[in-house]
Amino acid sequence: MAQTPVKVTVTGAAGQIGYALLFRIASGQLLGADVPVKLSLLEIPQAVKAAEGTAMELDDCAFPLLSGIEVTDDAGKAFDGANVALLVGARPRTAGMERGDLLQANGGIFGPQGKAINDNAADDIRVLVVGNPANTNALIAQQHAPDVPAERFTAMTRLDHNRALSQLAAKLQVPVTEIMKMTIWGNHSATQYPDLFHAEVGGKIAAEQVDEAWLRDTFIPTVAKRGAAIIEARGASSAASAANAAIDHVFDWVNGAEWTSAAIPSDGSYGVPEGLISSFPVVSRGGKWEIIQGLEIDAFSRERIDASVRELEEERAAVRELGLI
Ligand code: NAD
Ligand code: LMR
Repeated sequence: MAQTPVKVTVTGAAGQIGYALLFRIASGQLLGADVPVKLSLLEIPQAVKAAEGTAMELDDCAFPLLSGIEVTDDAGKAFDGANVALLVGARPRTAGMERGDLLQANGGIFGPQGKAINDNAADDIRVLVVGNPANTNALIAQQHAPDVPAERFTAMTRLDHNRALSQLAAKLQVPVTEIMKMTIWGNHSATQYPDLFHAEVGGKIAAEQVDEAWLRDTFIPTVAKRGAAIIEARGASSAASAANAAIDHVFDWVNGAEWTSAAIPSDGSYGVPEGLISSFPVVSRGGKWEIIQGLEIDAFSRERIDASVRELEEERAAVRELGLI
C-alpha cells in the first residue's frame, strides 16, 4: 500500500533558504528516499506570489516523492496536519546587526506560529527553528504550544557543527569523515562554544592535535563568527549551507544518528537551566534527541559554555520583558 505523505511546512518559503531547501525536501533528502512528502509553503502576503513561482518550479521537477504543494499566508492552514515544521521565515541579520537586535523584530512572528502549530499540527509534529535568533525564537514558539510536547521544539546549530567539522578537517588535513564527537554548546550566536576537548580525530582527542593558541584564537572565533563572515563576503546571510544543515538536523532526528549537535530544551544537564533551548552533544534514538551524558567539562570549556548559556538567559529575560512569552 502506498505510504501516506508526510506534511512538511516551510515558513519563509520565498526566501533564500527556502529556495535552497524546498527542492531537496521534495527530492527525498529530508526524510528518506522512499518517503512521499506534501509541502506547505507559508509566506507573508507580499511574498505569496514569489512562493507560488517556486511551487511552479517544484512542479516542473516532477519529483516522484512530491505528492502535493500548497502556498498560503494563513498559518492555521499551513500547519494543519503538519508532521514537520521548518520555521525559516524571519528577518535575516544584515551587516552590523547582532542577534539581540533581532529579538523584537522576529519575536512577534514565533508566538502566533507556535499557537498555530499547537492548534493545527499533527500529534507527531517536529519543529526546527532556523530563523534567528533561532534558540529564543524556538522558545517563544514552544511557549505558545502548551499541548505539544516541549522537546518537539528545536533550534538549528547543525550549521555551526558542520562549520566546525570543516575548519578542523582543513587544519589537520583529514577528511571530515575522520572527525567524531564534535559538539557545539549553547546559543547559535557568536558566544557558541565549539568543543574540541571531546571531538576525536583518528580516535585521539582533537584538542591534543592542535596548538592551544589556534584552538582559542582561530578555531573558536572562526566557527562562532562564520555567519557574520558569510554576510560580509556574500552580502547576504548563508542560505545553501543553512538549508543543508536543516536537512541534516531533521533527517537525523527522524532516522536516528550518532553524536552530533542540536539545540533542544535543557533538562538541566551540564548546568544549563531547565527549559532553555541550548545546543548540546546529542544522539537521536527512536525519533527523539537525547543529550549525551557523563562528559567531563574542564575549566576552559565551562567558562565558555556558561557565557553562551548566560546569553540565552538574557534573551529569555528580554522576550519575557517584551511580553513575548
Ligand atoms: P530571506 O529574507 O531571504 O527570507 C525570509 C523569508 O521569510 C522572506 O521571504 C519573508 O517574506 C519571509 N517571512 C518573514 N516573516 C514571515 C512570517 N511571519 N511568516 C512566513 N514567512 C515570513 O532570509 P533567509 O536568508 O532565507 O534567512 C531566513 C532566516 O534564517 C533569517 O532569520 C536568518 O538569519 C536565519 N538563518 C539562520 C541560520 C542558522 O544557522 N540557524 C543560518 C542562516 C540563516
Ligand atoms: C549564520 O550562522 O550563517 C546565520 O545565523 C546568519 C546570521 O544571521 O548570523
